[in-house]
Amino acid sequence: MTRPHVTLKIATSMDGRIALANGVSQWITGSESRARVHQMRADHDAVLVGVGTVLADDPLLTARTVPPPPKQPVRIVADSKLRTSSQSRLLNSQGLGKVVLASTRPAKGYSDEAMQGGPEIWTVPGPDGKVSPKALLDRCAVEGLNKIFLEGGGKLAASFIQAGLVDSIEWFRAPILIGGDGLPAVAALGLSEMTDAPRWRTAATARIGDDTLETYVRA
Ligand SMILES: NC(=O)c1ccc[n+]([C@@H]2O[C@H](COP(=O)([O-])OP(=O)(O)OC[C@H]3O[C@@H](n4cnc5c(N)ncnc54)[C@H](OP(=O)(O)O)[C@@H]3O)[C@@H](O)[C@H]2O)c1
Repeated sequence: MTRPHVTLKIATSMDGRIALANGVSQWITGSESRARVHQMRADHDAVLVGVGTVLADDPLLTARTVPPPPKQPVRIVADSKLRTSSQSRLLNSQGLGKVVLASTRPAKGYSDEAMQGGPEIWTVPGPDGKVSPKALLDRCAVEGLNKIFLEGGGKLAASFIQAGLVDSIEWFRAPILIGGDGLPAVAALGLSEMTDAPRWRTAATARIGDDTLETYVRA
């Protein structure tokens, strides 16, 4: 079975930060960029984030395009310990489309209301006690989800990059500076040799409102 294609989306300041030190990340980029992100979501089979992003932002992760897409992407959270709150907007919007919690353990602790009509719990453990990116993508393939839109945050992005599972990057860059106390777009990769740094080829650059969109593909 072919591995799903993974596009990583990152929205940063000029200096590559995705949030302030206190976790505030809305809104770094402008409205045109955000509209483009909704279109990108609509063009994928699934949107994937880490539970850190769900806890910080309580996102809906739907594709809010005009007109609305014929089908909403499946919304997947990498959530090893099932920390997504049953009060979250994700678990209370399952009428809008399927929600999956990718975990290292079977479902426990959710109210009947939150479990009604979903979410699906996929048990895809990795050796480090977190969700295995590879096992998660294998499960996506089985489910017929072949285009995955990975929206961060920095820790989940780093895991997918380290595993060599990111095929392209859509990098929105806003003309603001956040500084070194902001959260980096990609968490630690643990490199000691420059030759080990994952390399990308710039495929396109576009101006979106006041922002820049750089598209990279794996070199
Ligand atoms: N500007 C942007 O484009 C953008 C996009 C997204 C997020 N953000 C911001 O980024 C911040 C959150 O980022 P974050 O890095 O703290 O969190 P994150 O990457 O969203 O989530 C990290 C958490 O996901 C879980 N996880 C499960 N499997 C994993 C794996 N294989 N690798 C890594 N994590 C895995 C872990 O928690 P468990 O161990 O509990 O499973 C981990 O702590 C928020 O401030 C948010 O606003 C910005």
